[in-house]
Amino acid sequence: MLTRAATHEADEFSRAAVVELAPAKINLALHVVGQRPDGYHLLESVVTFADIGDRLALSPSAEDSFGLSGPFSASLRADAGNLVVRAREMLRSWLQEHGQDAPPVAIHLEKNLPVASGIGGGSADAAAVLKGLAQLWDDKITDREMAALALALGADVPMCFAGIPSLARGIGEDLLPLPDLPSLHLVLGNPLRSVSTPEIFARLACKQNPPIGNISGDGWISLLPHLRNDLQAPASALVPEIGDLSELIAGEGALLTRMSGSGATCFGIFSSRGAADEAAERLRALRPNWYFQPTTTISGAPA
Ligand code: C5P
Repeated sequence: MLTRAATHEADEFSRAAVVELAPAKINLALHVVGQRPDGYHLLESVVTFADIGDRLALSPSAEDSFGLSGPFSASLRADAGNLVVRAREMLRSWLQEHGQDAPPVAIHLEKNLPVASGIGGGSADAAAVLKGLAQLWDDKITDREMAALALALGADVPMCFAGIPSLARGIGEDLLPLPDLPSLHLVLGNPLRSVSTPEIFARLACKQNPPIGNISGDGWISLLPHLRNDLQAPASALVPEIGDLSELIAGEGALLTRMSGSGATCFGIFSSRGAADEAAERLRALRPNWYFQPTTTISGAPA
């Protein structure tokens, strides 16, 4: 039976003009290979996307509004600082400066992903708002201009906007599609301790690590164990649960475990969806207060 809040939320989505999924972003590997003069770090990261994520409902309205629901909505404020509102305002300003309309819109965010957890969250939400509003406002903005707006919102927003398995370089905005990257069965785990991305980057001992190198061709699964997440050591020093989490997932039979982004979410790769589902169930029983979620990532092959 639906509760009153859930009924209201179902209405937001069934009546919405546009519904966008904001999929979780997984960094299968993340190498920090340098630093720019402005302090941003140069990366090489193998990025893919889950089949779970936040959901956004967008509709024309008499005035702007922004509402929140979902299991992790309590960790967020629906104010002007939220990336959803910043994305709306950034696109609106650009359109108005270029003589186009950007009328009021009601946006509702169902927050299903843990906040500040290394799997995109806010960046995916911002990218989904840009996509949804592009439909709703029927804007005349080129892909290149949209990519610039996405980057101004955050280094991970362009990859979330693209939404396809990629090798991300630069600070994350220089994207090379990876059509050979297969679909993977994962368990995502998070000890529900949010992590500050700037703090993790600041704690990096070495800012110039070996690059990923030549990744063309197949053999992804055999290559991944030789790659790293350079942010895992500084994140684990700050959040010791990351080590425990990674061991727990490995103990359930994962072929590989690693942290995503700046953490604290870790993923395990499993041989099948059934194996991932069963592992997630056992992990939930072992740590009832942590987050565990099986998911299947999209494949890089064009549909
Ligand atoms: O771009 P975004 O706001 O998501 O980045 C948050 C912070 O993470 C930046 O202010 C920066 O301190 C750090 N960061 C970085 N190098 C990147 C991405 C993020 O140093 N490539």
